[in-house]
Amino acid sequence: MRHAYKKKILYCGLVIVGVIIFLHPNMNARRTYDFIEKRNILEHLYDQTAQNFTSPAILDCDYHDILFDDTTMSINLMDGDLIEGHRIKDGGEFHPSDCKPKFSTAIIVPYRDRAETLRGFLVYMHMFLRRQNIHYRIYVIEQVDMRPFNRAKLLNIGAAAAFKAGYPCLVLHDVDLLPLKPANLYACTKCPRHMSSSINKFRFVLPYLSLFGGAIAITSSQFKLINGMSNEYYGWGGEDDDLYARLEVGELKLCRFAPDTSRYHMVTHQTQQKGEKRHKLLNYAKNRINNDGLNTLRYTEVATVLHPLFTHIMVDL
Ligand code: UDP
Ligand code: BGC
Ligand code: MN
Repeated sequence: MRHAYKKKILYCGLVIVGVIIFLHPNMNARRTYDFIEKRNILEHLYDQTAQNFTSPAILDCDYHDILFDDTTMSINLMDGDLIEGHRIKDGGEFHPSDCKPKFSTAIIVPYRDRAETLRGFLVYMHMFLRRQNIHYRIYVIEQVDMRPFNRAKLLNIGAAAAFKAGYPCLVLHDVDLLPLKPANLYACTKCPRHMSSSINKFRFVLPYLSLFGGAIAITSSQFKLINGMSNEYYGWGGEDDDLYARLEVGELKLCRFAPDTSRYHMVTHQTQQKGEKRHKLLNYAKNRINNDGLNTLRYTEVATVLHPLFTHIMVDL
C-alpha cells in the first residue's frame, strides 16, 4: 500500500515537471531563424568610418578571412591580462595600423556595480575585437544614482556620446555577454542586427523571434530615426521589446547572423528586480516613440574619465 502511494506521488511529480517544462517560454524557442548567409554578409555590411577618423595605412582591410574563421574564443581569456604593447588608446579606442578599416563602431555598455564582470569583459573584448580589423571604441555608461537600473536610458546617453565623436555604427552591449565566435563581426549591417541570438543562458536557442536585447548593432542614423530607446524603463525587462516596437514603427526589419556565428557566453549574475511598469509601458510603446527617447533625454553627467581600456561616463539619471 505504502509502495503504491509513493509510486503515485512520483508519477504526479513527473507529470507536474513535464507540464512546467512544456509551458516554459523557451519551449517555443527557435532552433533556427532567418539569417544572412555567410557568403552574403559582406554585401550587407554598412561600410562607413567615423567622421574624423583617418588611417595611416594605404591598403584597405580585408574581412573575408575573419567572417570565415571557424574558431571559438576561450572565455578563460577574461581572467587574464592584455598583452603588452596592445596599442589601445586611452578611452578604449583601437584601429588596425597595417590596413585601412572600413568600419568604425562605438560599443556602448550600460553598467552599475558589476566590477569583476566589467574587468573580464574589457580584457576579453579587446582581445576579441583587435582581430577583427575594425576601428572601435568602448564606452561604459555607469548609473551612479540608487534608483532601479535603467538600461535603455544609459544606452541613449552612450549613443549621444558616440554621435558627438562621429561614430556611424552603435553596438549596444550587455556587460555580461562574451561573443564566442571571431566571425561575429562588430560592424553594422544595413539592417539593425540582433547579435546575441544564441546564448548559453537560453541553451543557445533564440527564445522568441522579436527578441532584440543583449547585444545589437544599429546604425547611428537608424537609431536617430526611431528616437533611440525609451527613457522610462526602470528595473528589469521590456526596454528591448520597446525598441523592437520602434523598429516596427520605423519599418526597419531586423536581421541576424547564423546561430553558430551568434554564440555568446553570459557570465552568471544576480537577477534584478523586475520593472513594475514594464507591461503598461510596452502596451503604449508605439505611441510614445516621438515624445520619449533621444529628444527628451535629461540627466546629469557626473564625470567622464578616459581609462586605458574604456571611456567611463558616470551619470545621475
Ligand atoms: N546591468 C548592470 N548592473 C545592474 C543591472 C544591469 O551593469 O545592476 C547591465 C549589465 O550590462 C547587464 C545588463 O544591464 O548585462 C542587463 O541586465 P541583466 O544582466 O541583469 O539582465 P538579463 O539580460 O541577464 O536578464
Ligand atoms: C523581457 C525582455 C528580455 C527577454 C529575455 C522578456 O520577457 O521583456 O526584456 O530581454 O524576456 O530575457
Ligand atoms: Mn545578463
